[in-house]
Amino acid sequence: MKYIIFNWKSYLNIAESMNLSKIVSKLPSTKKYKLICSPNNFYNLSLKSRYPKNIYAAQNIDLHGKGASTGSIDIEDLVNNKIKYCILGHSEVRSNFGETDLTVQKKTDLCLINKIKPIVCIGEPLKIYKSKKTKFFLKKQINKIFKKSNNYEEVVLAYEPLWSIGTGLTPKLSEIDDILGFLSKILENYSFKKINILYGGSVNLSNIKDILSLQNLNGVLVGSASTKSSFIKHFK
Ligand code: PGA
Repeated sequence: MKYIIFNWKSYLNIAESMNLSKIVSKLPSTKKYKLICSPNNFYNLSLKSRYPKNIYAAQNIDLHGKGASTGSIDIEDLVNNKIKYCILGHSEVRSNFGETDLTVQKKTDLCLINKIKPIVCIGEPLKIYKSKKTKFFLKKQINKIFKKSNNYEEVVLAYEPLWSIGTGLTPKLSEIDDILGFLSKILENYSFKKINILYGGSVNLSNIKDILSLQNLNGVLVGSASTKSSFIKHFK
């Protein structure tokens, strides 16, 4: 079973998000894929109540929850509305809102305490990739986000090279495979009930088959391509 996460970012309005949700809800159920829709946070609750069988993920949450926190998205809103997953540490949240690995660590813990499955994003910038320091960079990110003393429940980890997001560029399959092996090895130093490793960055209809054929890959996190109905209908 492979995770397919549709990260609609802020590309779509409510009607478009409803339309894609409807298409997802009509797909015949399959054991091959776990389809998760991640609409703009503002639409999540209405989409979930309209299509209760779909699985939804929030695109972020805040550490400051209920109370005097203007603009916050409280984790209780996810819990109470059966939004089961939450994307954390996406590179756009990191760059637009100054999110750090330490914040991602705290949000991961907050999600797990509340039984929300975190989809934790990591990935190296182009400069690091070019200087062949990707593994060193990813290891540092993992060390900051996860604690060796914790017993983690199920976590989804998305490897998204920053230079690949929204650019049409992807690493070679052999490079992704090499990183998957590396990540699995490092993660052995931590305790997870289950850890699923995904790839994200310029996944589309022409490369998804090859990417999903990687044995150690548990799925993909897809941005712009996932806003097209033709892409969603692929997962029958
Ligand atoms: P992209 O985005 O598929 O548009 O490159 C991926 C992501 O940001 O998760």
